Amino acid sequence: MSPSPAASAAATASAPPVPDSMPAAGSMTPMSGQPVHLQLNGQPLALTLEPWTTLLDLLRERLDLTGTKKGCDHGQCGACTVLVDGKRMNSCLLLAVSLDGRSITTVEGLPALVASPDAAPVPAAGALPDRETLHPLQQSFIDCDALQCGYCTPGQLCSAAGLLNEPRPVNRHELRERLSGNLCRCGAYPQIVDAVSRIVLRPDSAVPAVCAATAAMVASAAETGEVRE
Ligand code: FES
Ligand code: FES
Repeated sequence: MSPSPAASAAATASAPPVPDSMPAAGSMTPMSGQPVHLQLNGQPLALTLEPWTTLLDLLRERLDLTGTKKGCDHGQCGACTVLVDGKRMNSCLLLAVSLDGRSITTVEGLPALVASPDAAPVPAAGALPDRETLHPLQQSFIDCDALQCGYCTPGQLCSAAGLLNEPRPVNRHELRERLSGNLCRCGAYPQIVDAVSRIVLRPDSAVPAVCAATAAMVASAAETGEVRE
């Protein structure tokens, strides 16, 4: 049965108006980006970014600097820690457009923080830094065997590097507390604290030849007769 003239008129009257300028489905114009200038690992960088891009996603997805890790993506684990103007920050919580004019250092840029002017440049994305250009913290992590899977390590390193720009912790207890924002699901905390304390607690003294946690493991292995390589 066809609708009555009155019903047709009512239906027509209640239909939303269609503006002449409405684009066809699938042809929406993308929101224009926002220009951003950063100093990234010592290099100037000009970008156009969507306002919702986090610094973490910018680093990993657009710039291929995958040393910075995504763990929780909610500011809980510290895996994404980088330095912003020398301060340690969770890059998953930062909108990149809010960092216009700021200086960002990722784990890839740590060697350059201590490199002399004529030292090798920051390694390209994906390339491993030369051993001779490692930051002392990186070398200390190697010396102290301060990692297992390594997923948390870039964040731990950047957090420790940020500590160097803060009032120094006075002892290992305080150091542990101030690194507590960086979680390690492998539980390598004793070795991590060893590695960082060698650099952060005693900047002017000789580096101990053997890390405390490593020495404890060796002593324990000797007591139990376990052979360790
Ligand atoms: S990924 Fe940023 S704090 Fe966990
Ligand atoms: S070394 Fe595996 S999470 Fe820390």
